[in-house]
Amino acid sequence: MKQTILTSALIPICCLFFSSVYAQDSDNGLKEFHAFPQVLGHAQTKLAETLEELNYNASLHPGHTDRNTGLWDTRFLKRSEWTSGFFAGTLWYMYQLTGETQWKDYAKEWTEDLESTANLNIDHDTGFRISSSFGNAYQLIQGQYYQRIMLRAANTLAQRYDPKIGAIKSWDWIGNFPVIIDNLMNLELLFWNAENSGNSEWYNIALSHAETSLKHHMRPDGTSYHIVDFDDSGNVNWKGTRQGYGPNSVWARGQAWAIYGFTMIYRYTGKEKFLDAAIRAADYFIDNLPDDFVPIYDFLEPVTTVQSKDASASAIAASALFEIYEFTNNARYFNSAVNILNSLSSEQFMSVNSDISSILKQSTLHRGHGNVGTSYADYYFLEAIIRYRKIKQAEFPRIGSQSVFYLDQNFPNPFNNTTQIFYSIENSGEVEISIYNSAGRKIRQLVNTYLPAGSYRLDFDASGLSSGVYLYVLRSNGQSVTRKMTLIK
Ligand code: GLY
Repeated sequence: MKQTILTSALIPICCLFFSSVYAQDSDNGLKEFHAFPQVLGHAQTKLAETLEELNYNASLHPGHTDRNTGLWDTRFLKRSEWTSGFFAGTLWYMYQLTGETQWKDYAKEWTEDLESTANLNIDHDTGFRISSSFGNAYQLIQGQYYQRIMLRAANTLAQRYDPKIGAIKSWDWIGNFPVIIDNLMNLELLFWNAENSGNSEWYNIALSHAETSLKHHMRPDGTSYHIVDFDDSGNVNWKGTRQGYGPNSVWARGQAWAIYGFTMIYRYTGKEKFLDAAIRAADYFIDNLPDDFVPIYDFLEPVTTVQSKDASASAIAASALFEIYEFTNNARYFNSAVNILNSLSSEQFMSVNSDISSILKQSTLHRGHGNVGTSYADYYFLEAIIRYRKIKQAEFPRIGSQSVFYLDQNFPNPFNNTTQIFYSIENSGEVEISIYNSAGRKIRQLVNTYLPAGSYRLDFDASGLSSGVYLYVLRSNGQSVTRKMTLIK
């Protein structure tokens, strides 16, 4: 779908930005982030330019920019990349911040293109791909379709759990059973789905992984290992980092994942040990930040020639620090997050007056590959801004929840006599659901009525039909969608 981006809301950016970078404290001791209008304008411009750069092709999902051209690196636009959900998520955040339907329409397209990744069992990143896209879709427009895909994704991620080790296997291509600190982030998919489906097994898996990670990734001083590799009995083979400097160094983004991950785990479990771990990790991060509040990609990198900054680490940490503030009411965490936001809004880190396609620049993928923009730095930057504005009780545009036109795969499938079909209707209207046999003959009409927009469940009883493959078709308002079901008697 191609649409013209509204530019009327865009705010001219230039030097006026940055008078507020080192903002004064307000009366209650909480710092202010004044650059919001300028950042919003800049972010809209960059998102609009990215849509054009992608030729409005929703199967392309930006990961990071090319160091030479500043454009999104075309080798990393695939659905299967760990980063594929972030652009969709950033579009959702833009919709939340502006209430403009164009952002919602694009967000839906880029999200729905990722549906197949809910079944992709190649690594732990199912959580990143699906929570940032479908998770935000569900938060904002409540379509049952989005929830169904989240459930599917949780099921996929849970398959990577090994009870002997008490962890989810992060990668299949290195070591024996590698578990990386980033994996904490993906537990949210399990916690959220457990809470919303009543499947306590997912909660138990996520909790067990969190405990294993707390025990083996975290050092007493609050710093974290990137990778812990386990043998088949759960003993540690090796600990270290691939993306940071060295075995005992402190990879900055890993540290940010630890802060964010343990805070989120505390949100779902209420267990103080996780909040304590998050605070220890946050204290190290804050205490070791340079004057511009953006770390070198590894806090312990000693070689001056590879000292690239990682804005993504600060964006992730800022978002998490706002949540720590909400749990602790300690202004240190709020003000540290605002310091980061103010710095990221400066010309040093925001891609103002430049051809770089991302909103933020100066992130590092891994040692030796710095100075890029990333879709995740942009995503967590906007998320942090949303969290700031919520704490400050700023106004958000009113967003009506909205359904989508969707027909789910029946469950169970194959089935013996009874199965459930979930579907949703975007606009109120006449709705028909019919069953066809493999010869294309209509054999049952299950729904034929006027329905308001919304989500529905249908219980189908196939008594009287013989075993075989059947098609079921949903039609409404000139749209139709067909799926197959298999009856086995
Ligand atoms: N989760 C991969 C990274 O942070 O680079």
